[in-house]
Amino acid sequence: MSRNVIIVGANRGIGLELVKCYKKQGDDVIAVCRQASDELKALDVTLVEGIDVKKDTTVADLASKIPFSKIDILIHNAGILRGDSFQNLNLEDMREQFEVNSLGPLKTVMSLHELFKEGTKVGLVSSRVGSIDDNSSGQNYGYRASKTALNMIGTNLALEFKDKGVAFALLHPGYVRTEMTGGGGLIDPDEAAAGLYQRMEELSIETTGLFVHSSGEKLHW
Ligand SMILES: NC(=O)c1ccc[n+]([C@@H]2O[C@H](COP(=O)([O-])OP(=O)(O)OC[C@H]3O[C@@H](n4cnc5c(N)ncnc54)[C@H](OP(=O)(O)O)[C@@H]3O)[C@@H](O)[C@H]2O)c1
Repeated sequence: MSRNVIIVGANRGIGLELVKCYKKQGDDVIAVCRQASDELKALDVTLVEGIDVKKDTTVADLASKIPFSKIDILIHNAGILRGDSFQNLNLEDMREQFEVNSLGPLKTVMSLHELFKEGTKVGLVSSRVGSIDDNSSGQNYGYRASKTALNMIGTNLALEFKDKGVAFALLHPGYVRTEMTGGGGLIDPDEAAAGLYQRMEELSIETTGLFVHSSGEKLHW
């Protein structure tokens, strides 16, 4: 049976490949983005455009644009990286990363949670570099801290919704060759998306709140 799937940040990179993955399974996919790329348009899925996760009002309006009565799978993938170091910290860039990477996923959940029913699964795309335990190389103050904040928000949401049977995962895609990394990385977006798809398949209310690599490796906080 086809499932109701929403991907936020579906335009390119890992998000676009997630859309392809779920569509291939025959699921009913809604791709949420600011402005659809030609590649996304070519996939022939339902598009919801005009959603900038920085803007409180457009995300709040998202629920009114979703024709589902229940969401089976929601993945918030939208994110930005503004590289920095202590010598060139830009506080505006830091704020923007918190707005998109930490508050963006929270606002998506705030907007859509009335469509969560028992069995709904929510994936929040975080990053291993948000792990405090794993930080051995420093740098990227804004990006790291915004993903650490997302990890805390995600674990809170997992606790909040556990009794309702809604499971959350904090997902690390791997080091992926996308625009974000300037094409650097160890794997391609389709491989990352295939791994994230599997992690979402495995996610259950028993494992809610986990922080996991697309490879399946459980990550430290
Ligand atoms: N690539 C990696 O190695 C890596 C590693 C760890 C975690 N991640 C995470 O994986 C996710 C996807 O990254 P990616 O590598 O695929 O990056 P990407 O190619 O740069 O794609 C980023 C996506 O986020 C969307 N986005 C950015 N700001 C937005 C906003 N304000 N409102 C709505 N959508 C917005 C972009 O849409 P537009 O096309 O409209 O800009 C695009 O679809 C991010 O959360 C990132 O932090 C990536």
